[in-house]
Amino acid sequence: MFTTQDIAQLREQVRLWKRQGETVAFVPTMGNLHLGHITLVKEAAKHADHVVVSIFVNPMQFGANEDLDAYPRTLDADKAALVDAGVELLFTPTPEIIYPKGMDKQTFVEVPKISDELCGASRPGHFRGVATIVCKLFNIVQPDIALFGNKDFQQLMVIKTMVEDLSLPIEVIGVDTIREQTGLAMSSRNGYLSAAQKLQAATLKQTMDEMADAIRRGEAIPNVVQASEAKLMQAGFKPDYLAVRNANNLHEVIEQDSALVILAAAYMGTTRLIDNLTFQR
Ligand code: PAF
Repeated sequence: MFTTQDIAQLREQVRLWKRQGETVAFVPTMGNLHLGHITLVKEAAKHADHVVVSIFVNPMQFGANEDLDAYPRTLDADKAALVDAGVELLFTPTPEIIYPKGMDKQTFVEVPKISDELCGASRPGHFRGVATIVCKLFNIVQPDIALFGNKDFQQLMVIKTMVEDLSLPIEVIGVDTIREQTGLAMSSRNGYLSAAQKLQAATLKQTMDEMADAIRRGEAIPNVVQASEAKLMQAGFKPDYLAVRNANNLHEVIEQDSALVILAAAYMGTTRLIDNLTFQR
């Protein structure tokens, strides 16, 4: 696997492939890779001739009180996992390479409305940071397709909206969430949980499953949400938000909507976990 921090080197390799008429799939990550990331990489290989992965812990998407410095950095293990998964090209830029003028003087990308609610309301500026880095990485790598986990459902919608709004010639694919046997969605943040907290955290998925069943049975959404928040609190969570939305646009649910998504963010101890469940009613 060829690993580079250098934008020109990366572009040269991609240009060589494209000159031969070959296609490129891209998986942007912040490292600390787990099975969820490796699944994205393997899925990427099914869609293109070459797979490019980036590892960049993007400071722009972290708030002032968030865990940027503590965010796990495990480059050697990540590289080994990517080699095993057959990745050919890894891009590992530094913040100085990505934001040479500093983040304050950097042009940014803001996807309106959808960036301001749910995770965006709890983490102001987060999706501006995500949209900016993803747009920048898209321009650096120039992939044909890019893959993201459905676990970050709102992030995926922000990115799809950005690609549509800016007419970027990239197909964005969402890949199903990979879960532990308990149902807990795989996440780099699970590493912050104790064994006991991990078991407790499995309640999040169970609660969402029960919510979907209740809504399908015709129970009123506000009642279901209220009862489920209480259940999460009983299980040791401090809910940040629990919401049911239209799965196609994240709008509030109206009578006619059938494709729905439950979105949840909740603290287990000091660790903020997110998850979601799409379903039809
Ligand atoms: O989901 C992530 O790991 C990050 O938000 C992403 C998409 C790599 C942008 O930094």
